[in-house]
Amino acid sequence: MSRTIVALDFSTREEVLNFLKQFDEPVYVKIGMELTYACGLDIVREVKEMGHKIFLDLKLHDIPNTVKGGMKNLAALGVDIVNCHCGGGIAMMKAAREGILAGTPEGQQPAKVIGVTILTSTSKEAMNEEMGIAGEVIDTVVHYAKNAKEAGLDGVVCSVHEAKAIHEACGADFLTVTPGIRLAGNSADDQKRIATPEYANEQGCDMIVVGRSITKAENPAETYRQIEKEISNGRV
Ligand code: C5P
Repeated sequence: MSRTIVALDFSTREEVLNFLKQFDEPVYVKIGMELTYACGLDIVREVKEMGHKIFLDLKLHDIPNTVKGGMKNLAALGVDIVNCHCGGGIAMMKAAREGILAGTPEGQQPAKVIGVTILTSTSKEAMNEEMGIAGEVIDTVVHYAKNAKEAGLDGVVCSVHEAKAIHEACGADFLTVTPGIRLAGNSADDQKRIATPEYANEQGCDMIVVGRSITKAENPAETYRQIEKEISNGRV
């Protein structure tokens, strides 16, 4: 299974199609709110019909009943991974999973549901002072991951630096999906805590989300393949 997920952070259908036509094999892609709010869910259906695997990154966060209904409708899309915020609590995360199970057509594999822990853009100061959560970010992240596991979720989105502690607390099977990846020599852009695929692999990350290091590469398909090959070789 592909362990590299390419973030399709584009705002138009044309950009998506132009990007994907450079690949002659199915790609694991992440579709987030930028693309979904621009093109609607039709873009998800279209990319899926092209044979690609999809992590639909819409980060649901609402009362349990609303999240359940939202997830039930998303389940019909047949995507591979969906997510919700761990900050919504255990009842909400349970409802997210129930929604996916309720909406998955018979004979179809239900999407994995993962929880967003603390965003990698959130500093300790912002977590302590603005969100009112005391202590270190890593402790909240692990606490949220344990809640996600208790709710029956399949894993979490976290930073590379937190994957090891999460696996220790929640088990090796609990998925860690990690953004903030940069190839050696690439610009960090707006990301604060970046890591290479090699370091992500050393930390036991199950899947890595790579945006600009692939989308802005001279040859995106070659860069994607190179990362995948290195991962499957166990080199990264
Ligand atoms: O271009 P880059 O590799 O930085 O893109 C990372 C992707 O992962 C973006 O789509 C971003 O929204 C997402 N993401 C992140 N940090 C998180 C959660 C999601 O960078 N904590």
